[in-house]
Amino acid sequence: EKIYIGVDLGGTAIKVGICNEEGQLLHTYEGPTETEKGAETIINNIERYVRLIVEQSPFEWEQVAGVGAGVAGFTNVREGIIIFAPNVGLKDLHIREILEERLGKPIKIDNDANVAALGEAWGGAGKGVENCVCYTLGTGVGGGIIIDGKIYQGFSGLAGELGHMAVVPDLEAIQCGCGQMGCLETVSSATGIIRMAKDAVARGERTSLALVDNIMAKDVFDAAKAGDETAVRIVNRAAFYLGKSLAAVAVVLNPELFIIGGGVSKAGDILFDEVRSVFAKHTPEPVQKGLQIVPASLGNDAGMVGAAGLFLRS
Ligand code: BGC
Ligand code: NA
Ligand code: ZN
Repeated sequence: EKIYIGVDLGGTAIKVGICNEEGQLLHTYEGPTETEKGAETIINNIERYVRLIVEQSPFEWEQVAGVGAGVAGFTNVREGIIIFAPNVGLKDLHIREILEERLGKPIKIDNDANVAALGEAWGGAGKGVENCVCYTLGTGVGGGIIIDGKIYQGFSGLAGELGHMAVVPDLEAIQCGCGQMGCLETVSSATGIIRMAKDAVARGERTSLALVDNIMAKDVFDAAKAGDETAVRIVNRAAFYLGKSLAAVAVVLNPELFIIGGGVSKAGDILFDEVRSVFAKHTPEPVQKGLQIVPASLGNDAGMVGAAGLFLRS
C-alpha cells in the first residue's frame, strides 16, 4: 500500500500528515517551525517531522510514494521555489530540490492556501464542486482558486494571492508584509484585526478590549459578540473588505462557492452575516444566483490533505 505525506508549512507550525491513496488522513504530527532560526533549521525540522511521523506510524519509509508541501508565501510551483514567504521568513529557496535530496522522494510544492483550497474541494466544504474559491484568514490572508477541479496557477504560479488585493482606499491604507499598500491582508487577517484593536485601545477608545492583556483575534470576536462597539466596528471592517474582495472575484470567475477558512473564520455568524450582506450589496444579481459563502470544514487538516492531494489529484 502506498502512502502520501502532506506538509503544511506555516509561520508558527509545521503540520505533517499521512494520507492513503483515497486521500484519507491517517496520522498527523505537528511541531514548531522555528521561523526565527532561519532556513536551515526550518528545512531540518521538515525532514525531522516527516521521518518521525512515518516512524511512529505502522507504515514503512518505502511505502512513501511522495511528499507534498503547502507553503505560506509566494511560490513558483513549476520551479519549486519559495519566492518570498514573509510570515515564515523565507526567500528565494529552492525547496523542492532541497527536500528531494533530503528525503529521496518525489516532492511537490504549492502555496498553502492553494493546497487548502484543493483539500476543501476534495473532501471538505467544496466536495463535488468544480469551481470554487477559498480564502484562508490567519496570520496572513491566503487564497486558492479551483477551476474545473484543479488549482488555477496563472502565468508564474502566483494566481490566488487574494490577500494582496488592494482593497483599502489610499487614505486609510497601511503597508502590508508584501510591501504594497492597502492589501486585504492588512484588515482581514488575524494580525490586522489585532492591530486595529490595539490601535483603538491606544487611541483611548472606551472598549472592554482595554482590559485584555495580550489581545488575540478571538478576544475581539468575543467582545463584538458581547456588543462592544469598538470590537463590532473592527469585525465589520474586516468583513467589509473581505466582502468587497469576494464581490470582485465573483464577477471575474463566476464561482459556485466561496469557502472561508483559517482561525478568523471561527468568528462565525458575526463575521459571515456581514460578509454576505456586503457581498450581496456589491455583486450583480445573476452572479449571486446559486453562489454560496460557507465556512471551511476541514479546519486545520485542509493543508495536509491538500498537500498530499498534489499527488493524488493531478
Ligand atoms: C501570503 C500567501 C499565503 C497567505 C496565508 C500571505 O501573506 O502571501 O502566500 O497563502 O499569507 O498563509
Ligand atoms: Na494562493
Ligand atoms: Zn500585501
